[in-house]
Amino acid sequence: MSENHELILEAKHITRRYPAPNGRTLTACQDVSLNFYRGQTLGIVGESGCGKSTFMRMVVSLEQPDEGEFLFHGRDITKLKGEELRQHRQKIQMVFQDPAEAFSPRMRVMDIICEPLLNFKRIRKSEKEAVARRYLEMVELPGDFALRYPHSMSGGQRQRVGIARALVLEPELIVYDEATSALDVSVQKTIIELLVKLQKEKNISYGFICHDMALVQSLSHQVAVMYLGHIMELLPGDKVADGCVHPYTKAMAEAVFDLHMDFGKPIESIESEAPSPLDVPPGCPFQSRCPKCMDICRKEKPVLKTIAQGHQAACHLYDLK
Ligand SMILES: Nc1ncnc2c1ncn2[C@@H]1O[C@H](COP(=O)(O)OP(=O)(O)O)[C@@H](O)[C@H]1O
Ligand code: SF4
Ligand SMILES: [Mg+2]
Repeated sequence: MSENHELILEAKHITRRYPAPNGRTLTACQDVSLNFYRGQTLGIVGESGCGKSTFMRMVVSLEQPDEGEFLFHGRDITKLKGEELRQHRQKIQMVFQDPAEAFSPRMRVMDIICEPLLNFKRIRKSEKEAVARRYLEMVELPGDFALRYPHSMSGGQRQRVGIARALVLEPELIVYDEATSALDVSVQKTIIELLVKLQKEKNISYGFICHDMALVQSLSHQVAVMYLGHIMELLPGDKVADGCVHPYTKAMAEAVFDLHMDFGKPIESIESEAPSPLDVPPGCPFQSRCPKCMDICRKEKPVLKTIAQGHQAACHLYDLK
């Protein structure tokens, strides 16, 4: 599947560390390599604090990795500075949980939507309303909303405004960081349908972060499972429910999909909490919660191995085969 699609952005061996109290270091992303393909969605799942947002902030050049590179159409964007960086930022946009909330309550919807275009001098002020109306219709809102203020709109409508704002620069990649997580399930569903429709129309790539595994796999062509800054498994979205192999993914998938599963089977649930990212043990990061933990898991860190086409897992169980 993905192999037939054009590679847009390649993350290669990305590591990001933060200074922590008492002279310690927290590694939020460790040697992460992932690819974004044209017209496809890469979903990232994992518990809170596993490094999803840190990785995506680097994808959108809001911060830089300590190690590794991001190749955008083959060119390392981690080295970009000043005007070149500013120009590049148009190509990759990000939508946050409630983007419209981040704007001044005095900004009308058309100002919010058109601000990026005005910043890059791509339209004149007199064109604002007409452009905003066009993009509002694209996100299935009435054109008249251009004159409204975000506080007079629902959460779902505001999120559509955030999507319109991300679209105006016609980016190649849009990153959604928990963009639908605060919405009711029914509203979430209509927004996801809109995202899928826009992706097909525009052949745009998405990065989609969400802690809801069922939702992520429903729209993602590839799903990356993260744990304590590491990629544990990378697999096609449609294989998550019954094709995942990593003990961590399996535990999450069984918790999520058990309604559709065989109730005769014991459910492997993860009981304890993830260790602190400051205390990642040597060996496998998942060892303290893994029902299959072996001696080697406490000594050697498993590396990602290819299990099948488009499917990789980092687990010693798959060294033995
Ligand atoms: N600017 C920062 N300074 C220090 N630690 C950070 C910073 N940003 C994130 N972290 C830490 O990095 C880890 C990963 O965070 P984050 O990427 O936000 O996780 P997620 O989005 O998966 O919940 C967490 O332990 C978090 O506390
Ligand atoms: S490497 Fe070992 S501890 Fe880690 S997930 Fe695999 S079996 Fe479990
Ligand atoms: Mg986050």
